[in-house]
Amino acid sequence: MSGMSSEVNLEMGRILIVDDNPNNLKVLSEALGNTGWEILVATDGEGAIEQAEYSQPDIMLLDVMMPGMDGFETCLHLKANHTTQDIPVIFMTALADTVDKVKGFNVGAVDYITKPFEHEEVLARVKSQLKIRSLARQVQQKNQELERLAQDLEARVVLRTAELSQTLEELKKTQVSLVQREKTSALGELVAGIAHEINNPINAITVNIEHASDYIKNLGDLVQLYQDQYPEPTPKIKDMIGAIELDYVMEDLPKILTCMGDSTDRIIKIVKSVRHFSRRDESVTQAVDIHEGLDSTLLILSHRLKIGRHRPVIEVVKDYGTLPPVVCYPGPLNQVFMNILANAIDALDEAAEKDPNFSQRTPTIRIHTELRAGDQVLVCIADNGLGMTEAVKERLSEPMFTTKPVGKGTGLGLSITRQIIEEKHGGSLWWVSEPNQGAEFWLKIPLQPISRCAT
Ligand SMILES: Nc1ncnc2c1ncn2[C@@H]1O[C@H](COP(=O)(O)OP(=O)(O)OP(=O)(O)O)[C@@H](O)[C@H]1O
Ligand SMILES: [Mg+2]
Repeated sequence: MSGMSSEVNLEMGRILIVDDNPNNLKVLSEALGNTGWEILVATDGEGAIEQAEYSQPDIMLLDVMMPGMDGFETCLHLKANHTTQDIPVIFMTALADTVDKVKGFNVGAVDYITKPFEHEEVLARVKSQLKIRSLARQVQQKNQELERLAQDLEARVVLRTAELSQTLEELKKTQVSLVQREKTSALGELVAGIAHEINNPINAITVNIEHASDYIKNLGDLVQLYQDQYPEPTPKIKDMIGAIELDYVMEDLPKILTCMGDSTDRIIKIVKSVRHFSRRDESVTQAVDIHEGLDSTLLILSHRLKIGRHRPVIEVVKDYGTLPPVVCYPGPLNQVFMNILANAIDALDEAAEKDPNFSQRTPTIRIHTELRAGDQVLVCIADNGLGMTEAVKERLSEPMFTTKPVGKGTGLGLSITRQIIEEKHGGSLWWVSEPNQGAEFWLKIPLQPISRCAT
């Protein structure tokens, strides 16, 4: 851009001369006309204002003493109008006039010239004012240009910042997905592998316990038969019966076997839950019983529910409604339950440590499920732990936000949970909490098949 375009051409200036005396107008016009400048004239204040608005002169020579509207008043009008306020005004006064020159400057004049006119002086003053105006315009133009550049720069910074923020968001999302997949698959692989390894030997034990029970029963019957048929055993046999406490053994052996059977049943149940929990195929939907998923997850977490260093055992209250099978991704959904339940246990542990009134309540996790409006499943997992402040609640959705010590929390649990519920299942997740009042985490999952939200 060139500053020259707005520069006043000193050779070609446009001057408006205002004087009620035609003689003065003539003298000045002649003096300035030689310079090549365009001369405009007016003989009173009103005419001057009209002319100034219309022809936008580069400078005005304004007589102070005029009948009607005098120069000062005319100048005030010019300065009050935004189309004429920047035109420099030079007042003209007769040497004999006793006008208040300061007043002239106060109403906006830039200079004075005195009648009778000194030709050279008039030219010099006019030129210098035109020069000043030209410079002022250049400065103004440069300022405008700078302002534009600054705005442009600011806009570019805003745009770039927005782009960067979006990239960052995307990166975080990708990271969450990666961690989720890694967590799911690493944990899933491990647990499924162990469950599989345990499955075969435990099945063998279960079957053999049954056989062993039969054999032992038979052997017991045989011993009984012997005792019936030979009520008087030899002294050696008698000694042995006493030494091994045969009566006690015969009574206790079935109990031991039953106990072993119960234990293997329990192991089988655990293995089943573990396999259920770690359903490996996360890309296929299945119609499952949500309660089974919750129970399996609780079983996996059972060691954490036990009595802790600072608190008694955590009571789990199941308030399960009647639910139809839910078409979902079972593995990821179990991970959701795991994240929320693990957070609840953490909150109870933390409350036990930090809240002096904690001993007055039983640490409890309440799980509520219900079918809502016939087509949505609601799950609420609530604890009476530490609860959350407003500041924590606001930041809960941020990936990597954690209040837990380094190494304990990654801050990804709820981000992963949200992604699984919202993006994979087309559902929603929300929470309700107050400091020291515990927390409720709610999930809503639509019942209809979810192929449209598969990611
Ligand atoms: N039940 C709850 N009670 C109180 N605060 C909670 C609860 N659940 C979550 N929070 C708060 O939300 C934060 C984020 O939870 P999130 O599960 O995303 O990460 P984390 O538990 O810190 O780490 P991790 O990635 O190991 O799960 C927690 O650090 C905690 O401050
Ligand atoms: Mg967590």
